[in-house]
Amino acid sequence: MIHFVNFNREYRLIKKEIDAAISRVLRRGFFILGPEVENFEKKFAKYCGVRYAVGVASGTDALYLSLLALGIGRGDEVIVPVNTALATAMAVKMSGANPVFCDSDENFLIDANKIPALINKRTKAIMPVHLYGCACDMEKLKALAKAHKIFLIEDCAQASGAEWNGRKVGGWGDFGCFSFYPTKNLGAYGDGGAITTNSEDYYKKLLALRFYGAHDRVTSAMFGINSRLDEKQAAILSVKLKYLDKWNQKRRDIAKLYEKLVSNKNIILPAINNENEHVYHLFVARVQNRDALMADLKKNGIQTMIHYPLLLHRQPVFNYKGKFPNAEKHSKEIFSLPMHPFLKTREVARIAKILNA
Ligand SMILES: Cc1ncc(COP(=O)(O)O)c(C=O)c1O
Repeated sequence: MIHFVNFNREYRLIKKEIDAAISRVLRRGFFILGPEVENFEKKFAKYCGVRYAVGVASGTDALYLSLLALGIGRGDEVIVPVNTALATAMAVKMSGANPVFCDSDENFLIDANKIPALINKRTKAIMPVHLYGCACDMEKLKALAKAHKIFLIEDCAQASGAEWNGRKVGGWGDFGCFSFYPTKNLGAYGDGGAITTNSEDYYKKLLALRFYGAHDRVTSAMFGINSRLDEKQAAILSVKLKYLDKWNQKRRDIAKLYEKLVSNKNIILPAINNENEHVYHLFVARVQNRDALMADLKKNGIQTMIHYPLLLHRQPVFNYKGKFPNAEKHSKEIFSLPMHPFLKTREVARIAKILNA
């Protein structure tokens, strides 16, 4: 069996450090917003090349709290890609604002050329997603946001460590929103998330927003929620952050291996984009007879998935009308092959052999 992700292999490799980190937290007896979170926030901000990081309960909350911090809510519109995880648009809905969906480009990312037509006086922000670990063209998006005087919130959930033009994601927009869901490139062993920013004012506001709106943890002068990264997860993340670059490189090596070994011309592998440092959270290929191919792979013990089976405008909760020709075309053809840093060369070779046949 070749699994889509493999946590056992990861844990075996770093067991000593993980066990020590958890045991340190348990012995200390301080579980929420203590030294581990503070330490991880500092390290993660430094890693992303930004001034501040704020740990929160999930990637969804990171997006939601960013919108709250910017005062975006009822009656406002936020532009999001139509092909992304439910969470991106759901966070907009949580804020009271409406998501406005944008078609994909050839790399499955939000098509920046189609954004201007979606902007009106209700538009308050663009929320590009560095989907599958591939950074969006942040210069283009930043220029767009600036020209229209709207905010830019990066959904970095799938792209810890990815870069656009030599600069890490999370530092380009007003906020960078990360998820530490276990399967992510930097994953906790439970839920978690973080928001990055270079603004001291927003940093302070976010610290309050994640704690009932209370700056000093006592007095609340604004609406806020309970959204905290916990000490155990922060301790685990501090261990795993040390390995992130190495593991992202392994993902890139595996992508190269797929490229070398898959010779079936009916299968379109993800394009390598020289301007960015793709971190291959997912390895998404395209093929016309997708369902038959996935069934064949399954028969051979190879797990595959579809990201995403339902485009967001088709989700009943959004009940949205619009035309998304690129995303619609991709959505019938995409499938995600196994991709994680512990995938073995012989496993990729076996997958390639079946794809080629
Ligand atoms: C693109 C994207 N945005 C946001 C999220 C939400 O993250 P979380 O599951 O930590 O709330 C996810 C992960 O599921 C995601 O893939």
